[in-house]
Amino acid sequence: MPLSTKAVTKAVFPVAGLGTRFLPATKASPKEMLNVVDKPLIQYAVEEAIAAGITEMIFVTGRSKRAIEDHFDKSYELEAELEAKNKQALLEIVRNVKPSHVDCVYVRQPEALGLGHAVLCAEKLVRDEPFAIILADDLLDGQPPILSQMLKVFGEQNGSVLAVEKIDPAKSSSYGIISGAEVAKGIYRLNGIVEKPQPKDAPSNLAVVGRYVLSSDIFKHIRNLKPGAGGEIQLTDAIASLLKVDPVFAYEYDGVRYDCGSKIGYLKASVEFALRHPEVKEEFAAYLKSRSLT
Ligand code: G1P
Repeated sequence: MPLSTKAVTKAVFPVAGLGTRFLPATKASPKEMLNVVDKPLIQYAVEEAIAAGITEMIFVTGRSKRAIEDHFDKSYELEAELEAKNKQALLEIVRNVKPSHVDCVYVRQPEALGLGHAVLCAEKLVRDEPFAIILADDLLDGQPPILSQMLKVFGEQNGSVLAVEKIDPAKSSSYGIISGAEVAKGIYRLNGIVEKPQPKDAPSNLAVVGRYVLSSDIFKHIRNLKPGAGGEIQLTDAIASLLKVDPVFAYEYDGVRYDCGSKIGYLKASVEFALRHPEVKEEFAAYLKSRSLT
């Protein structure tokens, strides 16, 4: 059966990483719970999935990540309190963190053995359906939301899809880098992908960012892997193996990425999202102006 005739209803969120680039903030609380204005990164990611029609959110968690489960759980005390005080607007916000048609399920990654390993931990929940992977520290801003754009490409091309963007070639050692032939505007059929190459070894300047739509065949390719870059089980290596037998496409999405795993990316996201937040945008813009920053 063609891959794209199966609807994509599941998204995997690998959230077991330690977030060492944000210590000490991430010592006891998950990096995915870092806030951009008034919403944690993981909620932006889940909202992007919901907008794309995903109804089952699969979190691959680790120790000290309990705050993520609590965030998407019902909060009886808080809701009762807001109800008693008749704070309807806040009540709506709290209740909409997890809309009723959405399910959240959790599986633990006992050891941090790499992104490929984290994804493999979700195999029993994904089963044989195509699925999305969202890395919440890449905050992607676009209209339509980036995962929705990718599902359109998935439907049209009938193959797995990775989100890519052009990067400064000097930074290739932070990303999975693809090579491929352009088959439509901004869409490339992959003929190779390599994890974190040095600039001199990078096959292009097209870097994978944290969104994937993959065939469930990826699991058997992950299972056959030996540890790759950094001694980890790399998703990139499994994709390199998948593309030898099934079509994989890279899609240059229409939007802006904030690398919220880095301090500077996180600060930029905070400024941009604050400048459009209805409650604070005017005062914040005036403040930036007073500092001669806008
Ligand atoms: C992971 C992937 C890498 C990808 C990146 C996107 O790396 O391994 O291929 O380009 O996410 O954010 P990480 O940032 O987890 O080191």
